[in-house]
Amino acid sequence: MIFTVAIDGPAAAGKGTISRALAARFGFAHLDTGLLYRAVGAKGGDPVAVARSLQPDDLARGDLRTLEAGQAASRVAAIPEVRAALVDFQRRFARAEGGAVLDGRDIGTVICPEAEAKLFITAAPEVRAHRRWLEVGGDEEKVLAEVKERDARDMGRADAPLRPAADAVILDTTGLDIAEAVARAENLVRDRLNRL
Ligand code: CDP
Repeated sequence: MIFTVAIDGPAAAGKGTISRALAARFGFAHLDTGLLYRAVGAKGGDPVAVARSLQPDDLARGDLRTLEAGQAASRVAAIPEVRAALVDFQRRFARAEGGAVLDGRDIGTVICPEAEAKLFITAAPEVRAHRRWLEVGGDEEKVLAEVKERDARDMGRADAPLRPAADAVILDTTGLDIAEAVARAENLVRDRLNRL
């Protein structure tokens, strides 16, 4: 069976948690596409050359989740040649036999417009910043500023800007706990599976 779940949305909206839960629940493979951009940004050097020769080891670095790595990721992610270098791998992953969940910014719009289930996960910036602060610690105001800066860059870029696909279901998790957000996402996927 070929079945793609596309999960997009702004920084720290809960895409990772929901994607992992969906993958476990339905037995699908999961790709956190943000890690690809984080790895390119963290490696330094010419981002286009790095993106073209990215290796599995590059994704295993321990420092990819930091605020700095997030900022570096969103800067290299605005370079069209970097995005182009990463498209084929993501498309193959999305359409591989057995089902796949991919989370990122452009999965439902660019990487896999034919995805069978599309979710756009969002939440108020303050709520997202608070969740990210619980993970990374430090100064919460700084985390909020970082989240807002990254969202503005991701939404404003010319190539594959962050926006919901026309046929995406919007899931606002501002007032939802993890269990409820996951339950709603599961309902959508089950509904789409029933339509096959
Ligand atoms: O976990 P969080 O939502 O904070 O970020 P991420 O998904 O790891 O993505 C880090 C950065 O990579 C984003 O701010 C985007 O600039 C970029 N990205 C992208 O452009 N396209 C994707 N499909 C995934 C990430």
